[in-house]
Parts: sequence; C-alpha cells; structure tokens
Amino acid sequence: MAVTGATGGVGCVAVEILAKLGFQVVAITGKAAEESDWLKAIGAAEVLARQSIDLTKIRPLGAATYAGAVDNLGGDILAWLLSMQKIGGTVAAVGLAADMKLNTTVAPFILRGVHLLGTDSANCPMSLRQTLWNRLAVDWRPDRVHDQVRTIDFEDLPTHFDAYLKGMVRGRTVVRIGRDSIPDPHRAP
Ligand SMILES: NC(=O)c1ccc[n+]([C@@H]2O[C@H](COP(=O)([O-])OP(=O)(O)OC[C@H]3O[C@@H](n4cnc5c(N)ncnc54)[C@H](OP(=O)(O)O)[C@@H]3O)[C@@H](O)[C@H]2O)c1
Repeated sequence: MAVTGATGGVGCVAVEILAKLGFQVVAITGKAAEESDWLKAIGAAEVLARQSIDLTKIRPLGAATYAGAVDNLGGDILAWLLSMQKIGGTVAAVGLAADMKLNTTVAPFILRGVHLLGTDSANCPMSLRQTLWNRLAVDWRPDRVHDQVRTIDFEDLPTHFDAYLKGMVRGRTVVRIGRDSIPDPHRAP
C-alpha cells in the first residue's frame, strides 16, 4: 500500500492506520533524507523518495507493485500510482498538493480493474463521520502521530503558511481559536 505526501497531515495518519491494519506501507515523500526514521517509527515498512520516481516516463501499465494507495498529491504522481497498481488495486484521490490535473490512460482501469475513489471529507454525512470517529478512537487510533501534534494560535496562522506551501511541515497541526477556551495538552505550562 502506498501513501504519497506521507509526512503531511493526512499522509502520516494514513501511514499509521494502514500499518495498524496490517498493510506493508510504502511511504512516498519529498523529505526522505530528513524524515525516513520518523515515517518508519509511525509504521512505514519502506520509504521511497519522491525524487527517485521518474514521472517523465509513466507507462500505461507499470510494474504491478501496490494493492492500493492514498494519494495526497494529484497530477503525475497519481497517474504513476494508477499505472503501478496490482489487479483490483484501489487508489483514493485525496489531495492536490502537487497538481490538480490528471493525465492518465484507461489501461489500469480496463486491464487491471483498478479503482479510483474520490474523497470529499467536507460533505461526509454525519452518520459516516460518527462511524469513522468511533473507529479512530479505538482500533484505528493513530497514537504515534497524535503524540506529536503541534498547536498554534489562530493569530499566528500567517507565519505558518509559507512552510505549508513549500511542503516543509511534518505531521498535524491544531489551530486554537480562542486562546483560553481549549486546554492544550501539548503546550508547556
Ligand atoms: N479530499 C478531502 O476531503 C481532503 C481532506 C483533507 C485534505 N485534503 C487535501 O489533501 C492534501 C493533503 O492535505 P494535508 O493536510 O496532509 O496537507 P499538508 O499537511 O500540507 O501535507 C501535504 C504534503 O504533501 C507533500 N507536498 C507538499 N507540497 C508538495 C508539492 N508541491 N509537490 C509534491 N508534494 C508536495 C508534502 O509531503 P512529503 O514531503 O512527505 O512528500 C506535504 O507534507 C491537500 O491537497 C489537501 O487540500 C483533501
């Protein structure tokens, strides 16, 4: 199972949950040199540097390597992931951190029965949210990622945007709205 944008907020949770479920997770990242140890600590079996993938030579069908993927990037990396699926592989398109476009062929769909699933958390029905929250609280609980969540104040948001746009941030960030209203378990007293 592959996860792109693996050090990002969505990616790292996906890595930990998929590993908990017993998948061999390949974490694909632009920060392999700095973050391989962390990605392995949260459950990745392997870390693949995004820079090592030649996206100029994507074949309609590549080596059948992955049983599925969670893709946070879109664009050529999503096209490459589709070409690398095993028969019946399922790819969840979550994000567009690299590109909104998708230039691919129908080959993975009609010759390997690959599925491309859309993901839209904003319109997720409440009943499904509650089911997922319950699982996230128990058997899917991503403890190793949660341990490293950072909290920032709403007023400080603008000073963090640049790092996000450059893909330099690792893990999840909670934005605190109303300085005194929510106790912050991650902040020193
Ligand atoms: N569909 C939905 O319902 C839904 C819900 C939440 C988020 N999203 C989308 O999912 C994506 C990921 O969200 P997130 O919260 O995880 O974001 P994030 O914390 O900013 O992480 C994105 C990760 O993507 C990689 N990346 C960043 N810029 C890149 C670039 N220009 N080219 C290639 N890789 C780049 C980096 O990871 P590496 O360095 O490890 O590669 C980065 O950490 C975003 O596009 C977001 O808008 C969609």
